Amino acid sequence: MKHKISLGVNIDHVATLRQVRGNTTAYPSLLEMVQLSKQGGASQITIHLREDRRHIQDHDVVQLCAKSKLPINLEIAVDSKMVNMALKNKPHWVCFVPEKRQELTTEGGLDIERCFQQIKKLTLRLQSAGIKVSFFIEPSLKQVELSALAGADAIEFHTGQWVLSQGVQKKKVWNHLVEAAQWGHHLGMRVHAGHGLDYSHAKSIVKLPHLREVNIGHSLICYALTDGIKLAVQKMRRQIR
Ligand code: PXP
Repeated sequence: MKHKISLGVNIDHVATLRQVRGNTTAYPSLLEMVQLSKQGGASQITIHLREDRRHIQDHDVVQLCAKSKLPINLEIAVDSKMVNMALKNKPHWVCFVPEKRQELTTEGGLDIERCFQQIKKLTLRLQSAGIKVSFFIEPSLKQVELSALAGADAIEFHTGQWVLSQGVQKKKVWNHLVEAAQWGHHLGMRVHAGHGLDYSHAKSIVKLPHLREVNIGHSLICYALTDGIKLAVQKMRRQIR
């Protein structure tokens, strides 16, 4: 059966813009972004509470989990303090992601072998509280298999390498994505994808077998600037008439 693919809107970079002014401005409101994303057809909101709190803050997690009219997908590191935060706020999904302090963005997938016992234990804790869990991994059969053994409800494939590669290499990475998606579905997990997806890659990723959800942030926030600047300037002009 062919399912509709859900769109998760990652609003981390809305918070990035707010944090640039040290959280002193009344704008932009993350809750307003939820509302507008819902009107645009989003199925969920994705946020990443990073250890260095460079964008999403603890109070955002509390507010969004309590008030969002769309389900929240909370991305966190494989860490018991972060899991406690999730258990307190009850997002619909938790997505475990690797985290390095100095990285510009999440640069690759999790190595499930390295964190196997811990991720398995933390996944069970979350699932016992009714929270579904996905693992952000590279499209590798080994990572898919270990994710199933650790109890993931879903695997989200890091699409960054596919987006950035060209020619023969792009085809090769695509084939890995297809094989990994088929294997993940066969093992009973939902297939998600995300990272670096722009309009053109979003149009192509829908060909991935068994794909149920994409999570998109950076490009969407950039497109929102291009689509919105004219209107915002017009409104500002009216203020200084
Ligand atoms: N999915 C996961 C698990 C992520 O960590 C991120 C952000 O790094 C995204 C999706 C969205 O990526 P982007 O902002 O490049 O669209």
